[in-house]
Amino acid sequence: MEIIIKKGSIKKLKSIVDELSPYKTAVITNTTLEKLWLDKILDQINAVPIVIPDGEEFKSLETAQQIWKKLIEISFTRRSLIIGLGGGVMTDLAAFAASTFMRGTYLGLIPTTLLAQVDAAIGGKTGVNFEGKNIIGTFYLPNFVLIDPETLKTLPEVEIVNGFGEVVKYGILDSRVYKKLKSFRKIDEELIRECVNVKLRIVEEDLRESGKRRILNLGHTAGHAVEKASNYRVKHGFAVAIGLMASALIAEKVNGFDSGKVEELLDKFSLPKRHSFEPKELLEAMKIDKKAWYGRLVFILPEEIGKVTIREVEEKIVLAVLEAMKNDSRDN
Ligand SMILES: NC(=O)c1ccc[n+]([C@@H]2O[C@H](COP(=O)([O-])OP(=O)(O)OC[C@H]3O[C@@H](n4cnc5c(N)ncnc54)[C@H](O)[C@@H]3O)[C@@H](O)[C@H]2O)c1
Repeated sequence: MEIIIKKGSIKKLKSIVDELSPYKTAVITNTTLEKLWLDKILDQINAVPIVIPDGEEFKSLETAQQIWKKLIEISFTRRSLIIGLGGGVMTDLAAFAASTFMRGTYLGLIPTTLLAQVDAAIGGKTGVNFEGKNIIGTFYLPNFVLIDPETLKTLPEVEIVNGFGEVVKYGILDSRVYKKLKSFRKIDEELIRECVNVKLRIVEEDLRESGKRRILNLGHTAGHAVEKASNYRVKHGFAVAIGLMASALIAEKVNGFDSGKVEELLDKFSLPKRHSFEPKELLEAMKIDKKAWYGRLVFILPEEIGKVTIREVEEKIVLAVLEAMKNDSRDN
């Protein structure tokens, strides 16, 4: 698997595809990216675009079926290449289609949101939503991931902030990323590369999430609960930010971690630290999360920047932290 992280690298797509020399190529993207970035691809390579409406609700089995049908129509084979162009919705969907069609085609990903560049397109998880988020999916590594920070220029600010939810997570997991974030000026190749490297290092040791990979779920125990309680109106990166604050505050009570370090980063990137849900509701959502440990409250807790542990936490501690983080009228 090749990961290219370079400004302007989208222009190098032709040489990467030529090297693979696929029988056919299809680009799976959405109506937003179609207007902004698809031409940069079709100018270079001969490919069939498959354009899907924009939205998480289209990351579905129905859409996957439409893609499979289209691939049959154009006589796609296993030696053909699917390129996923877009945010995490597109990279998850394209990767799912590639992993399932004829037991697996070639796959290339061109992530165009910060969240997809540092997270969704890295690590080989694919999926569609089915009665719940990412319930149906596979592990499938792409042949290449092409990350061009230039593509972020057209990304709305709110999506940049959303991506920083995951970037701040890497900052807690890794002291190099933390230092970069402390002196942050702008998003550059270096920052993306540092984040990608943290994820790769962890995933290489544990592709199927049986052990170490779980530490990438830092902030996700409470984060998933916030997403669920909001009916997915709170974006993933924002929910993770709230989850990071929760983990930091729980850690402070359990092992004396300085939660101010997390708070400072969340403030710096305009991420939320508080929530507006019933703490008990969040607690229940945590217990039934698919990544939960059979109803036990298990958290990834920072001990210091660059070091986390996985620990079961007493319900009363979690509840106290969620109560303290709840927005009340004084904040409005
Ligand atoms: N596979 C994994 O490991 C993994 C990890 C994290 C998240 N995910 C998945 O990623 C998805 C969320 O991804 P996301 O946050 O990128 O959301 P997204 O894919 O919905 O993109 C957000 C919005 O930005 C638009 N957009 C994308 N790139 C753009 C650009 N360059 N310019 C202008 N607009 C652009 C999209 O069309 C969309 O409207 C979720 O489905 C989540 O489950 C997967």
